[in-house]
Amino acid sequence: MTIKILGVGSSMREGSFGTRTLKTVLDAAGKHEAKTRLLDLRNIRMPMFNPDISNEYDEQMKKVIENVSWADAFVLASPDYHGSMSGAMKNFLDFYWEEFAGKTFGYICSSHEKGLTVMDQMRTAVRQCYGWSLPYGVSINGEQDFDEKGEIVDSLLVKRLIILARDLLVYGKLIREQFLRDITSNISDTFAARYRL
Ligand SMILES: Cc1cc2nc3c(=O)[nH]c(=O)nc-3n(C[C@H](O)[C@H](O)[C@H](O)COP(=O)(O)O)c2cc1C
Repeated sequence: MTIKILGVGSSMREGSFGTRTLKTVLDAAGKHEAKTRLLDLRNIRMPMFNPDISNEYDEQMKKVIENVSWADAFVLASPDYHGSMSGAMKNFLDFYWEEFAGKTFGYICSSHEKGLTVMDQMRTAVRQCYGWSLPYGVSINGEQDFDEKGEIVDSLLVKRLIILARDLLVYGKLIREQFLRDITSNISDTFAARYRL
């Protein structure tokens, strides 16, 4: 199975450090022969989630849904806003639930303070949807970690991003393959059983 990884960028800022970092991770995953796509929420006008109108989506939203269903694993990138994920990321996550089950998530936060609370919040939302998370994330501090050309100056940080890409695709593949085996088997004592059609 060639793993399919969707990167979700959630900063509305042109030149976002987080989205730039996300591209580095997707490039690294591509070198390991993962298929990758970038969903940059800056370029999409997602409506504010409203459960009452969840069947009335426009073409743009249908494309977002197609990307989420396509993915076996995700990298979520959020800026640190008041110790929390961006509103755009939270709104994106609100739209999905079963689509995340049995899929693995990696995290990037753009922060001046490591962004641990931000990554924990994303991890909590994902766990609530029966998604799996890598036990660590990568935080970047834009002004310190990038030069004027937009290149990452810290080689240790580049290494951490390459590790994140590698771990996401290796562990993500194991979990996804097992989940797919479990939903197609007739074993009842597995969490995947409830996702059978
Ligand atoms: C509304 C707002 C709230 C912020 N709150 C925090 C914060 O609590 N802690 C922090 O370290 N940085 C905070 N920042 C700074 C951003 O996290 C930082 O500029 C980050 O690089 C933005 O990510 P981006 O470049 O991907 O857009 C805040 C920025 C904004 C605009």
